[in-house]
Amino acid sequence: MTAPKNDRLLRALKRQPVDRTPVWLMRQAGRYLPEYRATRSQAGSFLAMAKNPEIACEVTLQPLRRFDLDAAILFSDILTIPDAMGLELYFVEGEGPKFKHTVRSAADAERLQVPDMQQDLGYVMEAVRVIRRELDGKVPLIGFSGSPWTLACYMVEGGGSKDFARIKAMALNDPQTLHTLLSVNTDAVIAYLAAQRQAGAQALQVFDTWGGVLSPAMYREFSLPYLTRIARELERGEGEERTPLILFGKGNAIHLQALADSGAEAVGVDWLIELSDAARQTGGKVALQGNLDPATLYGSPQAIREQVRRALDSYAEGNGGSREGHVFNLGHGMSPDMNPDHVGVLVDAVHEFSRR
Ligand code: CP3
Repeated sequence: MTAPKNDRLLRALKRQPVDRTPVWLMRQAGRYLPEYRATRSQAGSFLAMAKNPEIACEVTLQPLRRFDLDAAILFSDILTIPDAMGLELYFVEGEGPKFKHTVRSAADAERLQVPDMQQDLGYVMEAVRVIRRELDGKVPLIGFSGSPWTLACYMVEGGGSKDFARIKAMALNDPQTLHTLLSVNTDAVIAYLAAQRQAGAQALQVFDTWGGVLSPAMYREFSLPYLTRIARELERGEGEERTPLILFGKGNAIHLQALADSGAEAVGVDWLIELSDAARQTGGKVALQGNLDPATLYGSPQAIREQVRRALDSYAEGNGGSREGHVFNLGHGMSPDMNPDHVGVLVDAVHEFSRR
């Protein structure tokens, strides 16, 4: 497949030189954009949007029409996999995602199967193809999945959670069942990312949003080995043709050396670590993505520019004075009440301050 006209993201993920640091934002498509809210009220619901490839394409492109972003990210959700496994995803207004069925027993976990990527998740692959066609090579398209652990959190809890009581109880009382669940999730994630790549995704990100709620020992047992298996087993080409894999995790700062050795091309970090420290700890083995506190977007344009400059310089300081191998992003996703104009300020500041 042909290289995009703007290949800054792909080059930076391979730690190759670029003219300026690429930037994209987690949750760059969403409710903070009035045009998203308009499309959503026409479509009826988030799931109706995600399951319609033309609409998913439209909302994927919306932030790119406003901002000078260096990548598009597929409009979808991490919870498509458990939905396709038969757990039946739905959303309650103001309460977030829920599942009709949960995974609580050994029998529940043993019943799960890797979904058929074309039959059960074909709408995602079709969205990838439509978006690639409409992007017409302007910027690369990022595909994504949840991590096995993060998916398991929603599957066991039945939705979002504050204390992760049920899944932590499972980890303590019946670790074998949790490993059965994590193992089928890992097989599904590998098949899902491979199918998105076949459909045209040019970079792939795994969101381990809830890895950071685990103690270090439990992270090493229940999240890290499965992330590593994805990084090792996901077939993604060789050399220049290789599709880069980004492992993003909230609260992953204490595991950066292990993540740098996982086989992934890049690691995404949140804002609880200085990029200079993250760069020193990973020692050039991977590219780094991040890491402004999303709340930075509540600051003034001047404050946002200041924070962007700080983050860029922090990365370079820890990376032997070089900006290579940095993909600018927030440390987590955007919120619906953020000001779109501030996003423009951030994106332009990244490009202005990082020009080589
Ligand atoms: O980044 C992007 O723009 C791409 C699209 C994307 C969405 N969800 C769209 C979405 C991505 C990458 C995700 C990943 C996702 N989904 C994660 C991992 C990343 C993270 O933010 O930690 C998680 C934990 C989920 C599960 C999920 N889906 C949650 C917690 C919510 C929010 C519920 C709410 O009411 O705020 C969703 C729904 C969702 N996924 C929305 C969007 C734009 C909001 C939909 C809407 O109400 O219109």
